[in-house]
Amino acid sequence: MLPSKENSLQRLLQFTLARCCSRSVGKAACPRLVLGIETSCDDTGAAVLDEEGVILGESLHSQKEVHLRTGGIIPTVAQHLHREHIQRVVQEALERSGVGPSQLSAVATTVKPGLALSLGIGLEFSQRFVREHNKPFIPIHHMEAHALTVRMIHPVTFPFLVLLVSGGHSLLAVARGVSDFLLLGHSLDEAPGDTLDKVARRLSLIKHPRCSTLSGGQAIELLAKDGDRTKFPFKTPMGQTLDCSFSFSGLRNQVTMTIMKKEVEEGVEQGTLLSCVNDIAAATQHTVATHLAKRTHRAILFCKTNGLLPSSSPTLVLSGGVASNHYIREALTIITETTGLRLLCPPARFCTDNGVMIAWNGIELLREGKGVLSPDVDVHYEPKASLGVDISADVKAAAIRLPSLRMKITS
Ligand code: KG4
Ligand code: ZN
Repeated sequence: MLPSKENSLQRLLQFTLARCCSRSVGKAACPRLVLGIETSCDDTGAAVLDEEGVILGESLHSQKEVHLRTGGIIPTVAQHLHREHIQRVVQEALERSGVGPSQLSAVATTVKPGLALSLGIGLEFSQRFVREHNKPFIPIHHMEAHALTVRMIHPVTFPFLVLLVSGGHSLLAVARGVSDFLLLGHSLDEAPGDTLDKVARRLSLIKHPRCSTLSGGQAIELLAKDGDRTKFPFKTPMGQTLDCSFSFSGLRNQVTMTIMKKEVEEGVEQGTLLSCVNDIAAATQHTVATHLAKRTHRAILFCKTNGLLPSSSPTLVLSGGVASNHYIREALTIITETTGLRLLCPPARFCTDNGVMIAWNGIELLREGKGVLSPDVDVHYEPKASLGVDISADVKAAAIRLPSLRMKITS
């Protein structure tokens, strides 16, 4: 599988590369190549990219099916699966790229934040690899990689606003440069993808014929298309808190209570598919979308007041696994159209975890000569790691009230 951009162009490039490097022309003549490795959660990913962001080869092993069956990610299971697949995934990415380890300029690997046991496998493999091949090592912040992926596809210049929403995170930040972020707000409890996954599990959507292979978020999006969100008017979280933080656990409680009530009404046991799953899915998705939209609206107003975004073509980047949701994209389109921002979302396959985004972050750091370590430096993983300088207290102090806005989402 040769992803993105023209295959013929890629083949030509690979050929040129192979010749250029095998003739050992001066280093400057060879484009720099980075191998990216991702194992922070439940995807084992690897990719080789050149400096222009051309994907020369990639491989991805998803653990989704296993975790769907076990009803959530069990860290020891994730660790075992990473260990089982990492060697093959990296080898596949290298083989597909036609690039040998000696031709790499560096190896970039996610070291924070994420599941400790998962991060450990990627880091251990990478440190062994860079020492064996004597290559520089670039430790990567997973959320920074999500935030910067867009620059591989669109020529977006700094600064821009970014909303990252995934199974492990939700945050709003101003990207001022590579590894230079201002954190405006983050989730105080769980992440939106986690909430959608838990709601989907509580609704037993894995038993639904159309949803058995889908992640919780994908299942909710699919069922919501045939649902009536007005049947369950869930309260949008944190209406009285005038900042940009997020909270989803209260919404999950509201949904759980509703499900329990409906089970009693329909006279069915927990674990049975309710007749109103579509409506519950639609109402849950709408409330998540509205919450994300409102916090983002406030973030945009805060940035405008404080001159944090350029006056020409200010941009909101939406990324992370939950960003592939079309309803949520549309809710954010309403906000960006109202406030005069351009909304950019990487294609869905780059929104979820993969090796490409890690390699790209490596390229960005390599170009700037930031965070590039010699192979013998010992690096430790960090399960918890916030992104950039936290100015959420300033955002809260500004207490910006939102103008009323009708969220008429049609998708
Ligand atoms: O970014 P990602 O691949 O992994 C993390 O870093 O968490 O995101 C996975 C999350 C899961 O919670 C999944 O349910 C959610 O993204 N997700 C979606 C959709 N596709 C995946 N949520 C809502 N709508 C979708 N279409
Ligand atoms: Zn992620």
